[in-house]
Amino acid sequence: MAADRAKSDMEFLGGRRLRRPRATAWSRAMVRETHLSSADLIWPMFVIEGHNERTGIKTMPGVERLSVDLAVEAAKAARNAGIPALALFPNTPDHLRSEGGDEAFNPDNLMCRALTAIKSAVPEIGLIADVALDEYSSDGQDGLVLDGQILNDETISVMVQSALVQAKAGADIIAPSDMMDGRVFAIRQALDQNGFEHVQIMSYAAKYASCYYGPFREAVGTGERLKGDKRTYQMDYANSDEAMREIAQDLDEGADSIMVKPGLPYLDIVRRARVNFNVPIYAYQVSGEYAMIEFASAAGSFDRQAAMIESLYAFKRAGCNGVLTYFALEAARLLNE
Ligand code: PBG
Repeated sequence: MAADRAKSDMEFLGGRRLRRPRATAWSRAMVRETHLSSADLIWPMFVIEGHNERTGIKTMPGVERLSVDLAVEAAKAARNAGIPALALFPNTPDHLRSEGGDEAFNPDNLMCRALTAIKSAVPEIGLIADVALDEYSSDGQDGLVLDGQILNDETISVMVQSALVQAKAGADIIAPSDMMDGRVFAIRQALDQNGFEHVQIMSYAAKYASCYYGPFREAVGTGERLKGDKRTYQMDYANSDEAMREIAQDLDEGADSIMVKPGLPYLDIVRRARVNFNVPIYAYQVSGEYAMIEFASAAGSFDRQAAMIESLYAFKRAGCNGVLTYFALEAARLLNE
């Protein structure tokens, strides 16, 4: 009776069985729509002063800040694993932070020394330099602050100088992560006027004011300084149309590629961007997303590597050309096996 019933249900389906191509590994491989390889992975790296120095970050277990000599070794490992580019972030020593963030345009700052050292030892790997004042200022905001307000245009002129010293030090891609209006245009002009026409701009175009940046702020040493929030410049997480306007404007201003950030909770934004813009799109699987996978797997909630690879595929499926991820080296090695 039950078997007869099941048979007539299948007649109704007319032979359509979606499980058929999933039956074997070879067939699953054949119908797979999305592919992930080491070339999709960009590795964010934290640099510190010193020699042969590595320090742990409590809120992102497994990630370390590296002194420049160790960052060079890490860059070699990344190149050998097929990672196309690194994204560098300095942990500026306290005594060099100031209200104006002048260390941002010191041509001999930690960031510039790291760029030069890696570029000369590992010229084959692309170097992405973050431009924002939070890594150099005493208050942890991405812009200059006056009476509690974040100044837009004044911040841009500091950022332009910062981008120029970075380009000179060997940055291949300038990545403004501050969300000031007009910074892409200003940086593009300054790069072109100073002989850096070949240097790309990857703009953090749709960057949301997010709690998921928490561990990053510990990593670069801004966590305890930051008073208030970044909601007058980073985007409201309730918005999506606004992200399309941000992306369109950064492309108009001359961005070569754009970024959506954070990543996994914002894949709808990536998808919309992919449908609307024919440009390279990256997403940043940010520090808090990394931490979620680390802490949940440490608690036995799921398998760590499985969660890592599944999350990276999700970025590709949504339409990313690549992902900035703290898992880059480990994931690249796994994918190369
Ligand atoms: C700096 C910057 C931040 C991140 C990248 N660049 C922090 C912030 O905007 O507060 C976050 C990256 C991460 O969480 O992994 N402007």
